[in-house]
Amino acid sequence: MSPVAELKPATEPVLLDALSALNQRAEDVIARLRATVFAPGSEKIVDLRFTITKAAEMVGRSSEAIRQAEAEGRLPPPRLGANGRREGYSLSEVNHMRDVFGTRPYRREGDPPIILAVQNFKGGVGKSTLACHIAQYLALKGYRVAIVDCDSQASSTTMFGFNPDIDIQDEDTLLPFFQHGGAPDLQYALRPTAWPGIDIIPANLGLYTAEYEAAARMRGNPDSLDRLRRGIEGMADQYDVVILDPPPALGMISLAVLRSANALLIPTPPSTVDFASTAHFLRMIVDTLEVLAEHGLGKRGYHFLRVVATKVDEGKSAHLQIREMMQAVFGMDMLSASLLDSAEIDNANVQLRTVYEIAGSGSRTHERCRNNLDRLNGEIEMLIRKAWPSHRADLRRQGVA
Ligand SMILES: Nc1ncnc2c1ncn2[C@@H]1O[C@H](COP(=O)(O)OP(=O)(O)OP(=O)(O)O)[C@@H](O)[C@H]1O
Ligand SMILES: [Mg+2]
Repeated sequence: MSPVAELKPATEPVLLDALSALNQRAEDVIARLRATVFAPGSEKIVDLRFTITKAAEMVGRSSEAIRQAEAEGRLPPPRLGANGRREGYSLSEVNHMRDVFGTRPYRREGDPPIILAVQNFKGGVGKSTLACHIAQYLALKGYRVAIVDCDSQASSTTMFGFNPDIDIQDEDTLLPFFQHGGAPDLQYALRPTAWPGIDIIPANLGLYTAEYEAAARMRGNPDSLDRLRRGIEGMADQYDVVILDPPPALGMISLAVLRSANALLIPTPPSTVDFASTAHFLRMIVDTLEVLAEHGLGKRGYHFLRVVATKVDEGKSAHLQIREMMQAVFGMDMLSASLLDSAEIDNANVQLRTVYEIAGSGSRTHERCRNNLDRLNGEIEMLIRKAWPSHRADLRRQGVA
């Protein structure tokens, strides 16, 4: 008997059993991890507090102006602790101040909502990490944000405190929208998060079937690929920025995301392999969008497209070298800030949180990571504002554009 014939009958069932056992053990660990972070039935709470100095900076007015508005009753009286000192303001309270002082950074009439895809077909490059931190940075600034989790792995959904296996049903995700005869628009799927100013369309494992649904619809009807675009455009009016977190594969959903976005960020870690996949991704974008245009789908332009170096360890000379090469290749099409590799992102991740949610830790690692995120996200915010004619005019007046 040949060795193959000997092995085959024995390995298949063993392999499946082993996989099933591994899966069970992994799910048990995840369940325990979640249980320590979110007590059963509890909801995620974002308990950020800002001092009056910080609140003044966020609102764009002086501390004195806030005190005066409180004294005159234009703002509610400050909550005081047992020691008679201000307890600090929540993000909702800061946003209320922005409303009262008229300092919301909202886009104005004629400014298009930005539909920003954080996309690369390569897995694990930091798409979801970046997407969630951009969303929260913008929310801290007072923008209205939606995040659309287009990935059945549901990383963004999890980061925003929802358990995709328990809290999210298939009908809460994009799936019904992709199904034949399904939802006419995306309004049903939007839900608030614990973050003031951020809504989410969540995902769960069932979203994987949307790939088949979308593929079936596509057959003989290429226009159906633009269904997601129309759905997103239909809801985008309520927001300044809609962020799309796609799956790491070239499938129907990824294509639909490419067609839906009007701005693109391409996270790329500084490794030769990742750089090669990004080059490949860019080629695919051009080819795919051209083929789609030939099939009668209008060409899509982007307000901006930037490569962003992610997971960069500046202590590694190989990383620095590859980043330099990326800068030489992409030039102005690459963000000048990189997302640095940071233990703080991992620390936050273990707690199913983001760095913006563990603001209280105050360690040097935290400060460094937070400053890095703020610098990177500040660049992205600037690109967004430059895409808005009314903001561009403001920026020009201030001499920054
Ligand atoms: N700058 C960073 N420093 C440290 N760890 C990071 C950093 N960015 C991402 N990670 C970690 O790398 C892993 C993959 O990140 P993430 O899930 O954001 O990638 P992704 O591109 O969305 O992956 P997928 O392709 O599976 O959707 C996560 O564990 C995340 O915590
Ligand atoms: Mg992801």
